Amino acid sequence: MINQEYIGVLDSGVGGLSVLSELKSQMDSANFIYFGDTKNMPYGTKTTEEIFEYTKNILNFFLEKNVKNVVFACNTTSAVAYDRLKIEFNNKLNIFPLIQSVASCAIDGLKDDDCVAIMATKATINSKKYEEEIKKYNEKIKVIGIDCTGFVEIVENRLYQEQSSLDLIEEKLKIAKENNAKRIVLGCTHYPYLLDILKKKFQQVEYFNPAQALAKKVKNSIDLTKCNQGEMEFFVSKNPDEFKLSAKTFFDIKKDVQCINLK
Ligand code: DGL
Repeated sequence: MINQEYIGVLDSGVGGLSVLSELKSQMDSANFIYFGDTKNMPYGTKTTEEIFEYTKNILNFFLEKNVKNVVFACNTTSAVAYDRLKIEFNNKLNIFPLIQSVASCAIDGLKDDDCVAIMATKATINSKKYEEEIKKYNEKIKVIGIDCTGFVEIVENRLYQEQSSLDLIEEKLKIAKENNAKRIVLGCTHYPYLLDILKKKFQQVEYFNPAQALAKKVKNSIDLTKCNQGEMEFFVSKNPDEFKLSAKTFFDIKKDVQCINLK
């Protein structure tokens, strides 16, 4: 659309839709382009260099689509690729990284000796980004990381009822229980899809979904005057129909999801 700008939202798959749904509810009239890199999913088990390259390709695609603001609706990308991409796309794109934008809210109301558990992908946990960002606001708080490799595949392939999925979720929650976690941060945007199961298995803990805090930050930071026709476009790099099915928890996508190969 001539002169209309879009807000780009990216993730490896359907996870970022848990953020897009919050962005949409806080900024209903904004134009959004979503890209789910389903061909390269999951990001969490890839190398830093691979994640950097995948994300860079998406950012170049966004530039062609008249995107000025990009939301990294992906913790893994925010953890391992944001610092370099911010420099590389400086002056071209304004990027909102997830972890860095929500770290203070993630520990809101917690006391010095409380424990906060970060459930996230291997790459996010290994980066220690949550810990680093949280400690800027409270260096005494105890932060533990739980590598939840396998959760993304449960969500992308809708394996919610499989015994092996339930066992894996149980095993990961056990670590939070053993550490007396007061709060669990859903440190991967795919994990809000698992919230009902998580709550059923471990109720005595608070769950923090960063989407709301991130959306608020975006809303308060950007000028929507050139970006306000309520347009929504969805792109993936593989299996658009599977994407639509898995997306249903957060988005009933009525229009076509376009499939494109970035490189
Ligand atoms: N949903 C993304 C995140 O928040 C990526 C998950 C993955 O592809 O491993 O980290």
